[in-house]
Amino acid sequence: MLNIAVLISGNGTNLQALIDAQKEGKLESGTIKLVISDRPGAYGLTRAAENGIPALTVNRKDFQTSEQFDQAIGELLRKHRIHLVVLAGFLSILGKELVKEYDHRMINIHPSLIPAFCGQGYYGLKVHRAVLESGVKVTGATVHYVSEVPDGGEIIMQQPVLVKEDDTPESLQRRVMEEAEWIMLPKAVEQVCRVLKNRGDAISEDTILKVNEK
Ligand code: GRF
Repeated sequence: MLNIAVLISGNGTNLQALIDAQKEGKLESGTIKLVISDRPGAYGLTRAAENGIPALTVNRKDFQTSEQFDQAIGELLRKHRIHLVVLAGFLSILGKELVKEYDHRMINIHPSLIPAFCGQGYYGLKVHRAVLESGVKVTGATVHYVSEVPDGGEIIMQQPVLVKEDDTPESLQRRVMEEAEWIMLPKAVEQVCRVLKNRGDAISEDTILKVNEK
């Protein structure tokens, strides 16, 4: 079985979608073993705890440099023998080394159709505000592998959502979550778990250690 870590910063509704999918047997090729928040008090931590998943805070503000922060996250991922890292509303940008260590084993969900409305500065409501200002009639969400370029890694899955005349950033954000993110993320995680399993990464402890020692 593959061990999954979900990294969050806030409400954790995408985490909840993954927990629900796991309960319903729709996410069956991996298990959520760890939730990490970069902000204390994130509600996603409560969701994890309520479902018996170890939930830890690595407060970005406790670290002077992003390298030190990455190291703390990396140590936890190794300690919990994590194969796949899911960034689900995680607002810190992880550095090159950690991203490289989890090459094709770290994925992110972004609330637009990449390559539109993405990259540095496009997060949360800002994305949906920019979508409405631009006048496009279709937006959506994207799940992609994490690379060194923010929101720039290989695309795994996309789901379009229609923009309505009377949408506000808030209403659009909600619909993109309901119609795209919460449906697509569990599917994408299951798909990536299967890819990793077929690649043979999953299972033996040796493999995990080898991957992590590279
Ligand atoms: C989602 O729109 C996600 O795509 C984005 O941040 C939001 C987080 O929502 N990156 P939640 O914490 O999963 O509720």
